[in-house]
Amino acid sequence: MNDENNKKEIDEVTGVETTGHEWDGLKELNTPLPRWWLWIFYVTIIWSVWYWVIYPAWPTLSGNTEGTGQYTQFNELAASQNEIVERQKAYLDRFEGASFEEILDDPELYAFAIAGGSSAFKDNCATCHGTGGAGGKGYPNLNDDDWLWGGTLSEIHQTLEFGIRENNYDTRLSQMPAFGKDELLTKHEVDAVVDYVLSLSNNKILETEVVEGAQIFKMQCASCHGDDGKGSHDFGAPNLADKIWLYGGDRSSVYQSVYSSRAGMMPAWGNRLDENTLKQLTVFLHQLGGGEEEQENVSAATESDQ
Ligand code: HEC
Ligand code: HEC
Repeated sequence: MNDENNKKEIDEVTGVETTGHEWDGLKELNTPLPRWWLWIFYVTIIWSVWYWVIYPAWPTLSGNTEGTGQYTQFNELAASQNEIVERQKAYLDRFEGASFEEILDDPELYAFAIAGGSSAFKDNCATCHGTGGAGGKGYPNLNDDDWLWGGTLSEIHQTLEFGIRENNYDTRLSQMPAFGKDELLTKHEVDAVVDYVLSLSNNKILETEVVEGAQIFKMQCASCHGDDGKGSHDFGAPNLADKIWLYGGDRSSVYQSVYSSRAGMMPAWGNRLDENTLKQLTVFLHQLGGGEEEQENVSAATESDQ
């Protein structure tokens, strides 16, 4: 600091004080900051102090300052979830009271059923039936129109509510005998009927064994699988005349099915899922693949129930 800095020098051209710095004859002016700029600067400082007071702001050892406004994102989330539940409720009330027919006829309720059904399927069913419902060995494909226990809305609903070979009075129940293991048929007879079963979907009827097998089939198997081998929903007996196999269509798999019998089990969902979810799942599965029309006697029965 020297004396020169203390002398005030006014620039002749602009009338503004200089800082006293000079470079090669150019002098630096000491122009004050514009008023408007300063005011905005002060306002932002005041704003930030206000913000710290109202909102959560500074970290502390045990968390953070919470602010007087009680704002948290959790509250916001809860509010928006409440809004979703409210909106769902508007549908649920109508959905609850609607029959399957009304749901199919109402695009909004239908969309509601499909959305709810597909997410409930992923949560509860995909472990066994696959995310797309395509199934696997012992777990039926729910995408096709090949049904063990029937593909009408009421049949699907019944299957879901009470399960298959489950521990309740209304469950789907039937037991194919273990023809070989329990010595109902000799090994030779099992071989013969297996050849016959394979011929149903292969169009290769050649050997005499098949003729013998056809006799055995008529006597031992047709009561459940039908005279033509096309199965029966009453017994959950698969169609043996198509190329769709639950347990495999190679000779040894079919032999195993006849020799030891299988008995797939599916949990009952009536006591795990609420009625609305069951309804959503039913509509979802019905549209997923090969949903069948309600038969006359079935719809008559449900009508008289109401
Ligand atoms: C623990 C495995 C398992 C789970 C989980 C499961 N299923 Fe099943 N499901 C089966 C088996 C096994 C069968 C076949 C039973 C049989 O052989 O008759 C079956 C059969 C079915 C059938 C009958 C298909 C037909 O052709 O008639 C439907 C419909 C069905 N399941 C829907 C569902 C739905 C919907 C869910 C979820 C809520 C579900 N399943 C969850 C194992 C399961
Ligand atoms: C009491 C009824 C009943 C009788 C009788 C019966 N079945 Fe079955 N059969 C079933 C049922 C139910 C299934 C499905 C089992 C399951 O889902 O786990 C089945 C499954 C099969 C399968 C497996 C099909 C597949 O897609 O993998 C074959 C093969 C079969 N039966 C052949 C026969 C033959 C051959 C006879 C006669 C010797 C016979 N069944 C008698 C009810 C019966």
